[in-house]
Amino acid sequence: MPGNQKWNENVPVLVAIAAATVTPKGESAKTAAYDTGAAAMALVLQVHALGLATPQMGGFDRDVFRAAFSIHDDIQLIAMLAIGYFDDASQLDEALHEREAAPRARKPLGETSFEGAWNKAFE
Ligand SMILES: Cc1cc2nc3c(=O)[nH]c(=O)nc-3n(C[C@H](O)[C@H](O)[C@H](O)COP(=O)(O)O)c2cc1C
Repeated sequence: MPGNQKWNENVPVLVAIAAATVTPKGESAKTAAYDTGAAAMALVLQVHALGLATPQMGGFDRDVFRAAFSIHDDIQLIAMLAIGYFDDASQLDEALHEREAAPRARKPLGETSFEGAWNKAFE
């Protein structure tokens, strides 16, 4: 997507994270999202352990990517990972630099973990 292109133009490696939604027996792979997310997280942790950076992106053109790499319909294209080297953030344009330099905030646990019913915050 255009917003992602400007910070990806010098990235040496782009990895597509894709889930096989059908098992070899032709059944629905019910844990596909979990399996693929876990594998992606392991990759992200290893990349960081090696001292490299790996921002993740949901914003890419899945139809173009699917056609370019002949990817079957039962493969769900989930995200892209850019893998590259940390560098001086001041080289970024103003908006990207501001975002990169901003303090990181995390949602409170109760916004993502529920108890008893969906949206009932876990405390
Ligand atoms: C699944 C996923 C998809 C994302 N998609 C985008 C994206 O398309 N464009 C973008 O600029 N940031 C996206 N982000 C956010 C960045 O990858 C990054 O996590 C965020 O800028 C926070 O940076 P930090 O990891 O340095 O704290 C996404 C994050 C995740 C986990």
